Amino acid sequence: MKATMYLGFDLGTSGLRGLLIDDDANVVADAQVGYKTQHPQSGWSEQDPSCWTNACDEVIEKLRKTHAKAVTSIRGIGVSGHMHGATLLDGKGKPLRPCILWNDTRSADQAAQLDSIPEMRQITGNIVFPGFTAPKLAWVRDHEPKIFENTDKVLLPKDYLGLWLTGEYVSDMSDSSGTSWLDVGARDWSDKALAFGHMRKDQMPQLIEGSQKAGELRKSLCEAWGIDGPVSVAGGAADNAAAACGVGCFAEGTGFVSLGTSGVLLAAKDSFRPAPDSAVHSFCHAIPDRWYQMGVILAATDCLNWYASTVGQTAKQLSGQLPATINGPASVIFLPYLSGERTPHNDAEIRGAFIGLDVATTSETMTQSIMEGVAFALRDNLEALKSTGTNLHSMLAIGGGTASPFWLETLATVLQLPLEIPKGGEFGAAMGAARLALCAATGADPETVMTKPDIAHTIMPRYDLMAQYQASYERYTQLYPLMKSLKV
Ligand code: XUL
Repeated sequence: MKATMYLGFDLGTSGLRGLLIDDDANVVADAQVGYKTQHPQSGWSEQDPSCWTNACDEVIEKLRKTHAKAVTSIRGIGVSGHMHGATLLDGKGKPLRPCILWNDTRSADQAAQLDSIPEMRQITGNIVFPGFTAPKLAWVRDHEPKIFENTDKVLLPKDYLGLWLTGEYVSDMSDSSGTSWLDVGARDWSDKALAFGHMRKDQMPQLIEGSQKAGELRKSLCEAWGIDGPVSVAGGAADNAAAACGVGCFAEGTGFVSLGTSGVLLAAKDSFRPAPDSAVHSFCHAIPDRWYQMGVILAATDCLNWYASTVGQTAKQLSGQLPATINGPASVIFLPYLSGERTPHNDAEIRGAFIGLDVATTSETMTQSIMEGVAFALRDNLEALKSTGTNLHSMLAIGGGTASPFWLETLATVLQLPLEIPKGGEFGAAMGAARLALCAATGADPETVMTKPDIAHTIMPRYDLMAQYQASYERYTQLYPLMKSLKV
């Protein structure tokens, strides 16, 4: 076993993953711990930051049980996390309220108000979406003024974990891009954008690149976790940027589609090319001088998980009821807008639907329609990216949903693009975070460390069925305006 280890934490929406790699970036061990999201009101989505730090202790505990020696040899840690969350802290670094998450849509009015200031899109290069951080602070100012007044610092979720690990208030460029406070082209906080949201630079963490060192693991944690130390902690990355680091997606023309809780279609960019009118996100990458564009749908595997819980099954059981290959689109069309939608609609109010139910509709058809609805929404994202001049000829496919061959073939056929599946599975954002840890600790060149994985196989679109799926997609695109007009 190699002497030096690096640990990537991925702070996901449903749990924390810890991935250990050695100094050749080979995977050594992997552990996960789940936690819950609270939805105290419709459209609200919150987590208590203590569930993240507890999960961190538990993940280390699990890793120590199976790989005690490797844990003692950790010399670098990187953290990736779900974006946009607002963790409000008092002067002592204590959370003032639960963190308001990326898929929380309560601040739609505040987002619209900030977005109506023309300079906001010019500075940040993005729409001020309701899920972004700045409108959340504006909501707190309107509804919880005492908490707003007492807010000394605002941290993104993974940066709160970073604070707990190191005692330092630091963020990286990729995660900060989703706040609506960053000048994404200049890679710096914008005093102007902050002031529009009644915020100040002294409430922001220090900014570094994801592959730079943010600080060192606190001595008390080194002792508690049995690590010899010292351990460098990297700037880390937003989950999608970290996933891109995990699969070596940096060069113009490369991209991936991710079937996670949210769905993402990401294209790497070697310069900042904002296109806010398309509702495409344009963010800094986690390494210097790189950016990316992405379309985001708020519910991907979340849709299947929701349906599974309503019918008392697991998503795996439902997927297992479908054949391995597709055979034409379902008669039912599903709109996946369970939490509203970002790209291309920027609509926090819209909700989902099943259209075309029949007495003969089976549970299998419902599952199929959910997978197709998510694929259609991602096709909308591909069209949005194309409208900005981005052209992809194939993509990597990553995320939990790629475990279903049926879903993958549906997606390849709907996107009309070959999808490449990484060999030996992919470790997503945790791998990117671990690679960033290695770079920050050793000074290694990020693009040398963060190579593309070997491809196990390529899922080709089913050309024989493409016209049928195209027709179904076209019907799907007619349904959003109809749903919107119903105002349900
Ligand atoms: C990206 C976004 C989500 C979250 C959760 O803008 O909101 O992808 O990062 O994964």
